[in-house]
Amino acid sequence: MIAIGSDHGGYTLKRTLMDHFDTKGLAYKDFGTYSEESCDYPIYAKMVAHAVASGECERGILICGTGIGMSITANKIPGIRAALCGDCFSAEATRQHNDANILCIGARVVGEGLALMIADVFLDTPFSNDIRHKRRIAQIED
Ligand code: RB5
Repeated sequence: MIAIGSDHGGYTLKRTLMDHFDTKGLAYKDFGTYSEESCDYPIYAKMVAHAVASGECERGILICGTGIGMSITANKIPGIRAALCGDCFSAEATRQHNDANILCIGARVVGEGLALMIADVFLDTPFSNDIRHKRRIAQIED
């Protein structure tokens, strides 16, 4: 199950991503926001981050205008490794190296087509399980 959330700045891209997941048959849970009315991104970042940290959802996707506010907020929740990605290389590498569990996207930064590709790569790429990456991830939590 994918946890997905956005603020008003990411609302339209969130809808596009959910349509994409529907087409692919991927299950997701939408934590809001549910309109383009101005709202506060930390509310949605925390809901998605807690859903992932608790194990309710395996991965999360958070979208705001830049993706920055979402990533700053989500990374304050223990167990969350949120990666702000604007390209497919980073999306692949952060899964392989960091075992990132939340993808953040800036809807005002990347186009719709690229955003869908970034999400696909993030969701399709497994963690490397490499010992050096496991050691470094453990050090994050120290
Ligand atoms: C909203 O205007 C904007 O500040 C928000 O979407 C995000 O970019 C914050 O980091």
